[in-house]
Amino acid sequence: MPDVQSILNERFRAAMAKALGDAAAGADPAIRPSANPTFGDFQANAAMALGKKLGQKPRDVAQKIVAALDVAGICDKVEIAGPGFVNLHLNAGFLAGAVAAVAADARLGVPVASPALRVALDYSGPNVAKEMHVGHLRSSVIGDAIGRVLEFQGHTVIRQNHMGDWGTQFGMLIQNLMESAGQAGQPESMSIGDLNAFYQASKKRFDEDAEFATRARQRVVALQSGDERTLRLWGVFIEQSKRHFNEVYKRLRVRLTDDDIRAESFYNPMLAETVAELESKGLARESQGALCVFPEGYKNADGDPLPLIIRKSDGGFLYATTDLAAVRYRARDLKADRMVYVTDARQRQHFAMVFKAAAEAGWLARPQGAVSAEHVPFGTVLGEDNKPFKTRSGEVVKLTNLLDEADERAAAVLASKNPDLPAEQRKHVAEVVAIGALKYADLSNDRIKDYVFNWDRMLSFDGNTAPYLQYAFVRIRSIFRKAQAQGLIDAKASSSPSVAEPAERALALKILQFPGVVEGVGQSLEPHRMTTYLYEVASRFHDFFEHCPVLQAPDAPTRAARLALCDLVARVLKQGLELLGIEVVEQM
Ligand code: ARG
Repeated sequence: MPDVQSILNERFRAAMAKALGDAAAGADPAIRPSANPTFGDFQANAAMALGKKLGQKPRDVAQKIVAALDVAGICDKVEIAGPGFVNLHLNAGFLAGAVAAVAADARLGVPVASPALRVALDYSGPNVAKEMHVGHLRSSVIGDAIGRVLEFQGHTVIRQNHMGDWGTQFGMLIQNLMESAGQAGQPESMSIGDLNAFYQASKKRFDEDAEFATRARQRVVALQSGDERTLRLWGVFIEQSKRHFNEVYKRLRVRLTDDDIRAESFYNPMLAETVAELESKGLARESQGALCVFPEGYKNADGDPLPLIIRKSDGGFLYATTDLAAVRYRARDLKADRMVYVTDARQRQHFAMVFKAAAEAGWLARPQGAVSAEHVPFGTVLGEDNKPFKTRSGEVVKLTNLLDEADERAAAVLASKNPDLPAEQRKHVAEVVAIGALKYADLSNDRIKDYVFNWDRMLSFDGNTAPYLQYAFVRIRSIFRKAQAQGLIDAKASSSPSVAEPAERALALKILQFPGVVEGVGQSLEPHRMTTYLYEVASRFHDFFEHCPVLQAPDAPTRAARLALCDLVARVLKQGLELLGIEVVEQM
């Protein structure tokens, strides 16, 4: 599969070695798509860095490289500009061939990763007995997009839903359940809506009633020591919560199932041995009654080593203990080559310390190099007031309510845009647009930044939104329906995408970037690189569509070649959106 940028890269590497010898060893040719077509299709910017390194004028270095460069049949024109940029104008036939090859490839030019890695992907991680809120939306949506991209690249993704199903709060929940008259006999009949209220009621009772608090604490002991009835009631909370989470995943088209759950309690049997190993390796020591590890490089405000507490003075284990056991499990048992954790940015230090401690314990070591452990942090969803997104009454926004509202709003937008859409179809389209808009708004922001939640913006048909991209796809599908109806599609004649006109050329060059974008997202774990890219594809498509009539093309071969280009754009849009977990429709 000829990936133009890699080909140019190779040719420049060869020229640099020939012209500069060892001095160019390891230097990056720095091939970039040109921002402005008058400067060619690509630029090679290596001469700047090399000039500095060699103490020569970058322009002279560029001249030497170009003199040694062999791009016959690839570029029509190679020119040196400004201080030493090398502008590359691709040969039209070469470009046409490259685009035709992508069109003929079911993977749109994306290579199958070699070696394929085993990636443990930790995302979503909602907490039992609490409804999912908008914070879990981000982890679920970003994590799912990352999983889809890595899987498409050919890696093995092992999803790990680190559900919060353990902790002292279950003491008060179970105790309250046991003591609630009428419910104790049939706790199964509770619905999750009740569970949320139930959590708050239990908490209130725990805070206000000291005797209840004592019984709740005893219940924690019963739970931890495996008391049967206590465990059974704990299971009620788990089952009901899972039902609710699965409903949300299904609506969000998030690919998590019960099989992906590795809840906190899963690690309970491993906690003691994990701690024992840290102790035996001399990494854990007591501090004020608690057992702590002190990963190197972490200091508190006073400059003292910062502890990661792994066992409280009462013997209880903590969130960090579970995460240390999880790292160890993922490396040893899952044989992960790469571990990815998608949580909000506030947990950054937690993970940095956990990873460091795991490395010190030797859990990340492998003969072929250390397992990479990566935290993928994200910012907060804000309301219009720039404060964390809340309901009007100041409560956290529940995900189910949010999804309902998205459906309603999308349906209203569609009703005004396309009142002719049949009612049953509209319901489906509204769902696809609603979920797409919601996910895209989240994914299209640099994930580390906070973003302001805005219904009107995310549901707009203009700008960098899901509806804009979905609509570009719909527009292409409608061209094909018309072509079909007018008998303009010749099933036998296969045509290569047209790259003759400047707008076609610009669009084709954009399409050729798809593999590089997939690669970039897989590496950086930044889905917004894909949204930015797809937006550019759609924008260039609209540009093309304005300048190059398709069905009204001057002759049949031109029409066929433009239809082929349209089809390729539709495939890139559909595939790109699918990697983000967003669907397309035929009409909207
Ligand atoms: N349950 C946690 C929360 O709601 C997220 C879990 C993230 N994963 C992990 N391995 N700690 O914040």
